Amino acid sequence: MSRNLYYEDEMMERSFNFAMIRNILQYAKKYKKTYALVMGFLVLTSVLSMLPAYLNMQIINRVLPKDGELLPNFKISAVIIISIWSTVIIGQVVATYINNRVTLRLGNSIVCELRKDMFDKLMQLSFDYYDSRPSGKILVRITTYCDEITQIFVDHLTNIIMNLFNMIFTLVFVCFTEIRLMGWVMLVELPMLVIVYILIRNLQRCARITRNKNSNRTAFVAEDINGIDVIHAFNREDLNGDIIYNLTDQCTKAFMMETHFREAIFPMSHGIIRICCMIVIYVASFLMIQSDPTTLNLGVIVSVTTYMQTFAEAVFNLCQRFQNITTLTTNLERIFELMYEEPAIQDKADAKELPQITGAVRYEDVTFSYLEGEPVLEHVNLDVKPGEMIALVGPTGAGKTTMVSLLSRFYDCQGGHIYVDGHDIKEVTLESLRRQVATMMQDTFLFSREIIENIRFSKPEATDEECMEAAKKVYAHDFIMQMPKGYHTVLTKQGSELSGGQRQLISFARMILADPKVIILDEATSNIDSDTEAQIQEMMHTVLKGRTSFVIAHRLSTIQKADRILFIDEKGIVEAGSHEELMEKKGRYYQLVQKQNG
Ligand SMILES: Nc1ncnc2c1ncn2[C@@H]1O[C@H](COP(=O)(O)OP(=O)(O)OP(=O)(O)O)[C@@H](O)[C@H]1O
Ligand SMILES: [Mg+2]
Repeated sequence: MSRNLYYEDEMMERSFNFAMIRNILQYAKKYKKTYALVMGFLVLTSVLSMLPAYLNMQIINRVLPKDGELLPNFKISAVIIISIWSTVIIGQVVATYINNRVTLRLGNSIVCELRKDMFDKLMQLSFDYYDSRPSGKILVRITTYCDEITQIFVDHLTNIIMNLFNMIFTLVFVCFTEIRLMGWVMLVELPMLVIVYILIRNLQRCARITRNKNSNRTAFVAEDINGIDVIHAFNREDLNGDIIYNLTDQCTKAFMMETHFREAIFPMSHGIIRICCMIVIYVASFLMIQSDPTTLNLGVIVSVTTYMQTFAEAVFNLCQRFQNITTLTTNLERIFELMYEEPAIQDKADAKELPQITGAVRYEDVTFSYLEGEPVLEHVNLDVKPGEMIALVGPTGAGKTTMVSLLSRFYDCQGGHIYVDGHDIKEVTLESLRRQVATMMQDTFLFSREIIENIRFSKPEATDEECMEAAKKVYAHDFIMQMPKGYHTVLTKQGSELSGGQRQLISFARMILADPKVIILDEATSNIDSDTEAQIQEMMHTVLKGRTSFVIAHRLSTIQKADRILFIDEKGIVEAGSHEELMEKKGRYYQLVQKQNG
């Protein structure tokens, strides 16, 4: 898989389609009853917002003097109309308030579920997904893009429905008030739709570019924060400052382009609607002169123009919401690109639980490549008995890490099979495999939390005593107790306050706590100083006893006692045997030992 870099725009495999809207609405399905309630309130608010225009007409026709003469019962009419108007306003305020509260809660609940699903998916995805792009580009999806999606449920969806109701009810009320003006009001919609469609297409294209530039910038910042030590060490502050300036400048330019289209939609639609309103008023006045004044009078014209105003506002609002939703469709592309991603490594449908193992491991004709056509391992065969300690040595880049990564299924081999206690590892569940086959890498990762929580990470139900016991086994207890708060010392920035060796010992304790049957140590003790060599030897002896282990170490003294040493090179195992056997053979391993001994 090719890797996307911070300065490369991401190409989405799927551009926005309506299935994405359908999928996002699936999250709202669970809340259908609440949405029905919201819908009820929207209809109510919409109908209530139609009444002022009708009441306007009634004031003109029943309250205001006509031809200089007071109308009969105009006072009673005025009181009734004002009372109805006040009730309408109170009703509108209450209905809007309730609706806003309900939708706010709904929107946040829905996006909370979406975010959880995204996180679950991220947890399932295999290394190859993370290998293929900077972590910042993944992070921004689950944070910013997801946050922005909340607006669809809180605001845009209800607003679109509300405005659609407003448009429908306006037409119904116009029809009810004066049917001859109805066709003219309908005319307003057509030019609007065409122009808005063209602008929206362009807006979507620009929004996509803005999202890409934003992802690039986040990727760079996230990577810089992680690599701040290296930046300081090589005085890269200014240079990296220039890069971020350039990336931000690209974001600004893309955003300005997007704004250009966004801002064009509103005034254009506004202008067109105003012109259409004028036409309707002109036509209405013309009809009024020709018609019977009891059917088409000033009151009717005032109320129809007020409806036109409401209709225009509904169209403006719809345009604005569509602008926002258009921008958000590009968020949906990114969110669903993640959600539709199939983990390269996952349980088969009929995967079985790996039973308690003794630790026998067999590689049968294993071939693997990261990039197609460039195999790192070819036709590798290996048989390991339970409890055996296997050491892997060889030149850098030979494939030692790769070989052991396949056993935990961090990657799947393309050819051959790997068996654990006779079970093909592809046939068993990942959870049951990784529970019994534990890996510890050289660049250990500690979380920003208490030391004891870092140890407990591998077995959440473990008691404090069990965690301490594990630390004692790997000789980490003493230095932990010397820390200000002992096991409750909080680590920050991945344990940077600890030495490399101390970090490795804590990770070692974490691994031992889970009590795995097969242990993989990839340069796991490389940072522990050689003064404590004897201690390490002793620790390895006790900790690895009764477990099958694969130990990769450049420091050969650590692995001399291994039952078997494999020399990895040329895409496979070139030498295998005990230290004594290989020394006698005077081959590659012998040369390596000679070189290390000076
Ligand atoms: N994630 C990856 N994507 C692509 N190629 C990779 C990846 N990881 C390793 N490689 C390549 O695979 C080969 C074997 O790498 P591997 O990490 O297994 O070597 P190694 O023997 O463990 O080396 P070292 O002693 O330096 O740790 C190298 O050529 C490396 O460039
Ligand atoms: Mg390695």
